[in-house]
Amino acid sequence: MTSWPGQPVTVIAPATSANLGPGFDALGLALSLHDTVLARVTESGVEVQVTGVGGGQTWRPEQHLVIRAMRAAFAATGGQPAGLAISCRNEVPQGFGLGSSAAAIVTGLLAARALAAARESAADPADLLPAADVLRLACEIEGHPDNVAACLFGGLTIAFGAEAGPEIAQLVPLAGLVPVVCVPAVPVATKTARKALPARVPHADATANSARTALLIAALTGRPDLLLPGTEDFLHQRYRAAAMPATAALVAALRKAGIPAAVSGAGPSVLALTVDGEAGDAGEVARIAAAAASSWRVLPLRVDVEGARLASN
Ligand SMILES: Nc1ncnc2c1ncn2[C@@H]1O[C@H](COP(=O)(O)OP(=O)(O)OP(=O)(O)O)[C@@H](O)[C@H]1O
Ligand SMILES: [Mg+2]
Repeated sequence: MTSWPGQPVTVIAPATSANLGPGFDALGLALSLHDTVLARVTESGVEVQVTGVGGGQTWRPEQHLVIRAMRAAFAATGGQPAGLAISCRNEVPQGFGLGSSAAAIVTGLLAARALAAARESAADPADLLPAADVLRLACEIEGHPDNVAACLFGGLTIAFGAEAGPEIAQLVPLAGLVPVVCVPAVPVATKTARKALPARVPHADATANSARTALLIAALTGRPDLLLPGTEDFLHQRYRAAAMPATAALVAALRKAGIPAAVSGAGPSVLALTVDGEAGDAGEVARIAAAAASSWRVLPLRVDVEGARLASN
C-alpha cells in the first residue's frame, strides 16, 4: 500500500525577468533572487505560513497561489492528500514584473510532485510527472509561458507554442552578464499592464521587433556589444509607458547613457543588462537611478542557471 511521506520537501525557485525588451511573451531570464517553500502532508486542513515578501498579508489558504498549484499537481499525479501545510520564505517582490507568480506556481507544482513521488516510491519525481507536463500545468495557471519557462529551467529561455502545447529552448547566457534590477516603491498588477496593449500593431513595428529579438539572442549568447540595439522593443513598452511613467523615464535615461535597459516583465521594475568589466556597470545604473525623480531599489544580480530545484530540508 502507498502512503504519504511524513517528511517535508523544500523547493527553491528563482525570480525571472520576461520579455527583455523585444522578446515579448517569449524570452525569460532566471535571476539570483529566490522564493523557498517547505511543504508537508498533514492529517487535515490547509495551513499557510509566509515570511519575507507577502508575510504581512492574510490568505484564504485555498486561494494561495502555491496551494492552487499544489492542487493541480496532486490532481495530475493520483489525488489529493488529507491535509497540507506550507511555509514560504519569499525574496521575490510581488507585482513588480519579477515573476513572483511564476515562482509561486513552480514551487507549488514541484513540491506537490516531490511529495507524490515519495508516496509512490518513485526514484525520480520526473518519472511521475515529466518536466513537459509541469511546464504545461504552470502555463495553464499563469496564462503565459515566458516567466514559468525560465523559472523552471533556469538561464535564458525561449518559450513558444507548439501543436502539443508550450515548449522551450534553453540557452546559456554570457558568463559575465550582471542583470541589474531596479524596483520602484509601488507595484502594478500584470493584468493592468496587459490591458494597455492594442489588438493590432503596424507591420513595420512587427518587422523591426523581429530583427531586434534575433539580435538580442546573438547579444546574450556572445555579442555584448549588440545588447543596446538588441533590447529595443517595438511591441509593448511604449503602450504601457502612460501606466508607469517613472519606469519609462528610467529606461530612457539608462539607454541614453548607453546601458541596455528594458521594462522587466509587465513592469514596473526596470532590467539593465550589464556585463562584468565593461563600461555602464551596476554602479552606473545605481547612479542614474539615484538621480531619477522617484526612488528605486537597485539590485545587482546573477543569472540562475539551475532553475527551480528541490533542496535538502
Ligand atoms: N509567493 C507567492 N505566494 C502566493 N501568491 C503569490 C506569490 N507571488 C505572487 N503571488 C500572487 O501573484 C500576484 C502577483 O502576480 P503578477 O503576475 O501580477 O506579478 P509578478 O508575477 O510579480 O510580476 P510579472 O508577472 O509581471 O513578472 C500577487 O498579488 C499574488 O496574488
Ligand atoms: Mg506574474
